[in-house]
Amino acid sequence: MFVSFEGIDGSGKSTQARLLADHLRDQGREVVLTREPGGSPGAEEIRALVLRGDPGRWSAETEILLFTAARRDHVERTIRPALDRGATVICDRFADSTRLYQGMSRGDLRETVDMLHTQMIGIEPHLTFIIEMDPEAALSRALARRTGEDRFEDMGLSMQARMAEGFREIAATFPDRCRLIDGDRPVEVVAADIAGHFA
Ligand code: ADP
Ligand code: TYD
Repeated sequence: MFVSFEGIDGSGKSTQARLLADHLRDQGREVVLTREPGGSPGAEEIRALVLRGDPGRWSAETEILLFTAARRDHVERTIRPALDRGATVICDRFADSTRLYQGMSRGDLRETVDMLHTQMIGIEPHLTFIIEMDPEAALSRALARRTGEDRFEDMGLSMQARMAEGFREIAATFPDRCRLIDGDRPVEVVAADIAGHFA
């Protein structure tokens, strides 16, 4: 099974992905916990290129190619082999992030994103948890943790708010796999809600 977590920066994805991995391991499953951009050695190198530096460092078009290259390597080397041996893959962000951040943050490039996804990636998660959070609260959580990988956080609050709206649209477009989760609750309450989908 392939599970992804999506949502704006600071919404609690990494925390919840880790807690779900612990929960499923306790049930005896093999779990591969991974993240994007990254998740394989080559893709982690691309991560440093896209997440560091000036917000205007790359055009949206160049970014689409970099994120797609990273994802292709991640799928080839990490995700596909894990799924083939029957492991559960939990991924902190996947293609929905590209649909939004590169597809709509700076102009309408969604068609380009979708075309590259079809040609180069071709898989979707079975289940996607979209963690919803007030953009202002999420941004202050994200900035409080300053990691140096803040290129997207540095694009500001209005961008975060547009992404939050975009994630709700993604949930409506792909209702079979997407579940909206209220992230503005204590960590363990959110985790129990998510674990309930695996009962
Ligand atoms: P993301 O991966 O979506 O950016 P993180 O899981 O890294 O989010 O969480 C961002 C910050 O918010 C971290 O410092 C984390 O400890 C904190 N956090 C996560 N979930 C909650 C929650 N439900 N309530 C309060 N703080 C949280
Ligand atoms: P991430 O490390 O998940 O950040 P956070 O924990 O703050 O949510 O992702 C870093 C940034 O990368 C995030 O701001 C969104 C961006 N991103 C894209 O723009 N496109 C993509 O395809 C992916 C996977 C991430």
